[in-house]
This record gives sequence, C-alpha cells and structure tokens, in this order.
Amino acid sequence: MHTAGFGPENARDPAAGPPPEPPAAGASAGGATGASAAGRASGLLQSIRRELLPGLLIESAAPHRDPVVARRVPAPWVLLGAGNYAAVLCHPGHPDLVAKVYAPGRPGLEEEAEVYRRLGSHPAFSECLYAGEGFLVLGRIRGETLYDRLRLGLPIPERVIEDVDGALLYARTRGLRPHDVHGRNVMVQEGRGLVVDVSDFLREEACPAWADTKRAYHWLYRPILRPLGLRVPYPVLEVARRLHRRLRRSGDRSAPAPGGGG
Ligand SMILES: Nc1ncnc2c1ncn2[C@@H]1O[C@H](COP(=O)(O)OP(=O)(O)OP(=O)(O)O)[C@@H](O)[C@H]1O
Ligand SMILES: [Mg+2]
Repeated sequence: MHTAGFGPENARDPAAGPPPEPPAAGASAGGATGASAAGRASGLLQSIRRELLPGLLIESAAPHRDPVVARRVPAPWVLLGAGNYAAVLCHPGHPDLVAKVYAPGRPGLEEEAEVYRRLGSHPAFSECLYAGEGFLVLGRIRGETLYDRLRLGLPIPERVIEDVDGALLYARTRGLRPHDVHGRNVMVQEGRGLVVDVSDFLREEACPAWADTKRAYHWLYRPILRPLGLRVPYPVLEVARRLHRRLRRSGDRSAPAPGGGG
C-alpha cells in the first residue's frame, strides 16, 4: 500500500520552504490566454497551496488496478472523483474550477498539460488553467461519468456517444492519439458528452477503450439496460471494470464492459 500526504513533510524539497509561485503552464482553452487563465486561477491557487495540499491525504493501494482513495480532505474542499493517478477536488468559493492532484510518484502531469495546450478550445474538453507542483487547475464539468450514470440508472443519450466520437476526431486533428477513453473518463453535462481525462493522449500505441465502451453501449446498454431501466450495482460495475482492465492488459479485446474499463 502506498500512502502519502501532501503536508510539508511530504513536500518534494522540504528544505526549500513554500514553493514559489510559478507562471501558469496551462492550456488556453475557452479563449483564455496564459495570463488571463492564471488570473482566473489565482484565488484558487492560494487555497490549493495553503489549505488543500497541506491537509490532503491520498492513498494509492493498487496503483495499476484501483483508483486512489482520499483518506483526508481538508474543509471546505470536496472530493469530486478519483482515478488511478489523481484525485479531483473543488472549493465552494471557486465553483467553476477543480484541482486535479496527482498521487505522489504518479507520472503524467506534464503530459496532460501538454495535451490541453494542443487541444486548445473545444466544447467536449475541459480547459487547463494551471499546471505544476503536482496538480492541475481545470475547468469544472458538472454532471456524472458514464459509470456513475449506469450506477444511478440515469439515461445516457446517443448524443453523448456522438459528442465523444467528434471530440476524439478533433483530438486527432491536433496530432493527438486518444487513449483510455472509458466510462470513468467521459462525463455527461446537460445531455452532452465530454472527455474529462486526456492524460494519455500523447501515447503512441492504439487503445481499444473507447471502441469497447461503445460496443458495450450498443450491445448491452441500449438493447437491455436502458429499456429495462436497470441500475447497475457498484460491485457489478467494479467487477466489469477490473475484468476489462485485465483483458486489455493481456491484449484480449473481445469482452466489452458496461461503462468501459478504467
Ligand atoms: N474537470 C472535471 N470536472 C469535474 N469532475 C472531474 C473533472 N475531471 C475529472 N473529474 C472527476 O474525477 C475523476 C478522476 O479524474 P481523472 O479521470 O482525470 O483521473 P485519473 O487519475 O487521470 O484517471 P485514470 O485512472 O483514468 O487515468 C473522474 O472520473 C471524474 O469523476
Ligand atoms: Mg480517469
């Protein structure tokens, strides 16, 4: 089990004291320039440095299998979600932004910032306003992941799938290769689909995750789950997620999982 906090005892260079305030390295989605993006994020940056990082305790028990777990979240921060690399949190005073805090030692932050820079502005992606010091500041997406919509029995309209298809085509036009787009990395906001996790879009190899997610949507969700209005219980989703992950890792692509892998 790998447990780490972000308090001073865990700072990357404890002797260096509080980190300097580096310039924003974020992408310029939403028409924001680097300077205006930094301006929009500046209030939140203070809170991240003074409240969030010193108090946050996140744990990565099985880094290659399960999402990180937040053991301690300092008030008034709220945990919105967690992936295998990072936890995503918001502050009530800055409701349109989130902090994506990477678990210590987990790679990918610079790559994710670079992907956002290349993506620029597109309605099916978030925007990155700041990157550095182990976290990103992103635009907040409101809604649920496909995974959570299955769990809650909320509808997943066809339009969401089309939006993500369009987003991934767009990403390719920016020289990126969509990767790891599955049920926990797609959210539904006001009936539209958005891709929330672009951290692996610089990787070279092809990834079947979105094709598998769509197969599950067309063969399992649309003909069976949706008409019956079934909620998929969390344990079933977790078994499907782990199975899909294992099959992907062993190169067997034949079994789609509801809600995709992850
Ligand atoms: N911009 C956002 N606005 C709101 N919620 C978000 C946002 N980005 C991520 N989330 C939530 O946080 C969760 C984890 O974020 P994300 O998928 O980026 O982490 P990750 O560790 O990179 O994931 P992975 O294991 O897929 O690599 C998402 O599943 C989603 O629920
Ligand atoms: Mg993710």
